[in-house]
Amino acid sequence: MARLILMRGLPASGKSTAARQEQARIREAGLYGLVVSRDAIRDMLGCDWAGGRESEDVVTAVQTAAVRAALRAGVDAVVDDTNLPYVRHGELVDPIDRWLDVAHECGATVLVSDMSNAADVEECIRRDALRPLPVPGGPIYGCQVGEAVIRRMAENL
Ligand SMILES: Nc1ncnc2c1ncn2[C@@H]1O[C@H](COP(=O)(O)OP(=O)(O)OP(=O)(O)O)[C@@H](O)[C@H]1O
Ligand SMILES: [Mg+2]
Repeated sequence: MARLILMRGLPASGKSTAARQEQARIREAGLYGLVVSRDAIRDMLGCDWAGGRESEDVVTAVQTAAVRAALRAGVDAVVDDTNLPYVRHGELVDPIDRWLDVAHECGATVLVSDMSNAADVEECIRRDALRPLPVPGGPIYGCQVGEAVIRRMAENL
């Protein structure tokens, strides 16, 4: 049975690094793991975090399709987004809930890898500051998001 592995944690907490490590472990076992990242899809789409509803809905559609295709092919999918709860129209939304439905549809098991014990807010801010700034019009994957974004996201934890 394929697994849907969901990273969860603040920016710069180490999700993408852990996702790649998990992918390497899966590969060592002779199988494949597809790392699926909203930021990588934003880069494929030529947009950034500020694209708004229009581009974010496309990112969600592409990401969901990729995860479904992997799971249905018996390939583990590793989602390395923050997957943290956020407030929308006054309601707390947990992105994990949507993934539980996708996994259920595809007969996959779900594992959540929470990075909150791996790096606290201050450590995330330190790690983030060492990352490159995004170049206007360039890729955003692995780039700095800034202290303000990290502190704002930490408020919902
Ligand atoms: N265990 C660790 N110890 C020290 N530094 C780490 C560790 N894991 C990752 N890093 C470093 O911290 C930075 C952020 O890591 P990473 O890109 O994996 O974070 P992320 O949670 O995916 O961030 P984002 O949400 O912005 O995508 C990178 O420079 C990475 O090399
Ligand atoms: Mg990442």
